[in-house]
Amino acid sequence: MKICVLGLGYIGLPTAAMLAIHNNDVVGVDINNERLEEIKKLDFAEVDLKSVVSAALNSNKLKLSNKPEKADVYIICVPTPIDESKRCDLSYLKKAIEDIKPYLEDDNLIIIESTVPPGTTEEIYKELSKEKNIFMAYCPERVLPGNILRELIENDRVIGGINRESSILAKKVYECFVKGKLYLTDAKTAEMVKLMENTYRDVNIALANEFAKICEELKINVWEAIKLANNHPRVNILNPGPGVGGHCIPVDPWFIVEKSKEAKLIKVAREVNDSMPLFVVNKIKKIVDNGNISILGVAYKGNVDDIRESPALKIVEELLNLGYSVKCHDPKVKKFKYKLYNLRECLKDSDLIVILADHEEYKNLPIKEIGELVRSKNILDTRNIIDREEWERFGFKTYLLGDGNEA
Ligand SMILES: NC(=O)c1ccc[n+]([C@@H]2O[C@H](COP(=O)([O-])OP(=O)(O)OC[C@H]3O[C@@H](n4cnc5c(N)ncnc54)[C@H](O)[C@@H]3O)[C@@H](O)[C@H]2O)c1
Repeated sequence: MKICVLGLGYIGLPTAAMLAIHNNDVVGVDINNERLEEIKKLDFAEVDLKSVVSAALNSNKLKLSNKPEKADVYIICVPTPIDESKRCDLSYLKKAIEDIKPYLEDDNLIIIESTVPPGTTEEIYKELSKEKNIFMAYCPERVLPGNILRELIENDRVIGGINRESSILAKKVYECFVKGKLYLTDAKTAEMVKLMENTYRDVNIALANEFAKICEELKINVWEAIKLANNHPRVNILNPGPGVGGHCIPVDPWFIVEKSKEAKLIKVAREVNDSMPLFVVNKIKKIVDNGNISILGVAYKGNVDDIRESPALKIVEELLNLGYSVKCHDPKVKKFKYKLYNLRECLKDSDLIVILADHEEYKNLPIKEIGELVRSKNILDTRNIIDREEWERFGFKTYLLGDGNEA
């Protein structure tokens, strides 16, 4: 089968490479030439991606290009961010469709993997089917950054055809490498399923964040309370934190909100999660009202290099606006809007250390040495990863997000 994959980012590249090593002729298309160069250099943080992409390129089954070619199947994995009014920006998707139009023939299959509001695939199909007799399906991606290749193979997938024939054809494409179950449904349901999965997590995190705020007010340790509540067999509250980041969870719920006036809880949950960076800043203000802040972890969560929608950015910007001097460190992230220092430089003369991402490296920091570097011994943990007693033993005052009982 000849397959053209449009958009070689987090999702498109591993998908293109997996299809290629399973004996399809794949053209991987990206309009960003720098990205194509990066791929040729095999410069990836993702585990195993290097070997799969290099095998695909060396076998000549994966070809890289900056424009599409004639193919049997087109898979679209381009960005679908939110615009300023919190609506889905479909411009990349529309452009990708325009790019393949000149090559489309009867009986071609188009698969959309980009996350979209419900109804989008049907709308695009309506337009395209005026000119060509095509098949079309929406097949959402549900992989976890940091573990993409394994999840691409092992996760179950939902395949939403515009009609039954489209679902069956799309299933054949994924069958070659997916070991999880392939569930067939219609396009609009598949679009909704993807959004519901991320919304479920966003609402659950919002509840945890609201509990954290309440517990601070009532002088209860929210982490302890959640741990005990989760012992109940039918309760599973997620963790609170400094805000929700990443490419999907803070974005996807808005795609439901834009389509339905009934989406009330979903909107409030988004607002609660978006309020967390400011909540952290307010807590910082209560601990030190000026001076040097050391931010540990600018990635949106632990052990990934992804800074998209990271709450760290909002927190740093707000602190700078308030006149604090801020230095950031992250062992995973290579590039951030603000300079990244090594750990020593970041902590030197610090008045408050703030842990924002739960990277493994931050769980066992050399407390004694840090005590000698900083100006004031204060640490705020927004992820509940430090051993507070141990830090206190070295003279630090410790603070925890969601705990009114400060040291
Ligand atoms: N990253 C994730 O974990 C994840 C998970 C599930 C779903 N998604 C969804 O998948 C889609 C892609 O996400 P991503 O994280 O891979 O994005 P990304 O930003 O990493 O990559 C997208 C790529 O598409 C390229 N592109 C843009 N327009 C193009 C065009 N017309 N033709 C060819 N290439 C084009 C860009 O240059 C970029 O390299 C989004 O809709 C996202 O919401 C992402």
